[in-house]
Amino acid sequence: MESRKDQHVRLFQETYQQHTNDFDSVKFIHDSLPEMSLKQVDHTTELPIGSWPVPFFINGMTGGSEKTKRINECLSQAAAATGIAVASGSQKAALRDSELLDTFQVLRRVNANGFIFANVGAELAVEQAKRAIDMLEANALQVHLNAPQEIVMPEGDRDFSSWLKNLERIVRSVDVPVVVKEVGFGMSRATFQKLIAAGVAAIDVAGNGGVNFITIENRRRERARFDYLQDWGQSTVISLLEAQPYIGQGTFFASGGVRHPLDVLKALALGARAVGISGTFLHTALEEGTDGLIAQIEEWKEQLSQIMLLLGCPNLQALRGKDLILNGAPLEWARLRGLRPEELAVRSSKLGR
Ligand SMILES: Cc1cc2nc3c(=O)[nH]c(=O)nc-3n(C[C@H](O)[C@H](O)[C@H](O)COP(=O)(O)O)c2cc1C
Repeated sequence: MESRKDQHVRLFQETYQQHTNDFDSVKFIHDSLPEMSLKQVDHTTELPIGSWPVPFFINGMTGGSEKTKRINECLSQAAAATGIAVASGSQKAALRDSELLDTFQVLRRVNANGFIFANVGAELAVEQAKRAIDMLEANALQVHLNAPQEIVMPEGDRDFSSWLKNLERIVRSVDVPVVVKEVGFGMSRATFQKLIAAGVAAIDVAGNGGVNFITIENRRRERARFDYLQDWGQSTVISLLEAQPYIGQGTFFASGGVRHPLDVLKALALGARAVGISGTFLHTALEEGTDGLIAQIEEWKEQLSQIMLLLGCPNLQALRGKDLILNGAPLEWARLRGLRPEELAVRSSKLGR
């Protein structure tokens, strides 16, 4: 029988398309005189989990079957060759069945010195989270929150009452930094307050606008589909707007619907310290293999620098001070939530402060 993970990858391929999302409703302002040179650009990002020369990474997806072992091998080889971080998919399957260990451990085998995130759900016991970290000699642990996906999964969890308490135990007990992520439904102020109080090292808002697990899980249901939940959650841009009042209190990552280097830069300008990419890189990995993915990542690194030059930004701190114009749904959301989009639009001048 096809494993759940293989079904997810197949349905991802069948439904994959890049489309307009809220990143298109965020604009930088062009200045015809950038007054700097490409040589001055440095896109190093400083994180509580270390300093990364490249501010984007491959976010958690696969492992748990022969097919996804090959995908993990490809993703991790590309990460090693380009010096970016890579995350494992949920390791729950290997915690239950040791025959599946290698489908995850391949990540470390082909990438001995790279930055690797382990990945578990918030329902797992501390001891299981520790085993997931050891399995990969992981540098950090991602804990994913996926309540909407569980609801639409016929066999999904129906009890989320212990997730926060459990997460707090994991944060206290493991000896690597813990990053909490959504799986494409975004986050809100209420979530940030709870996660910051829990002491997590970073929060990956993982919003909608890209891969949609309601769509994928609906396709696994024969009847009683939840098609009407398709738009559930917040986009990555809106989640980052929700995060604005908390940027000084926590470290934020962004992911969900990142299609190209300009989306990466918009997320960084909105305060994200690192940006995760899943669907866009998985699609390349499946279509063009390791060499194709390496070429794409190298191109993104180069274009990131070139657009920073165009914006007159020598580093990410300068990028975080650039004026941003919001349109459409993000603008309306910001206004309704009391976030003063006018200030973002003039924040580079004193007037905006
Ligand atoms: C095939 C597939 C499997 C995934 N499995 C996991 C997983 O096991 N754990 C997790 O935290 N996120 C998982 N995700 C979610 C991604 O990390 C990400 O949050 C989501 O795809 C939205 O980002 P994107 O628009 O860049 O794809 C998976 C995504 C895909 C496409």
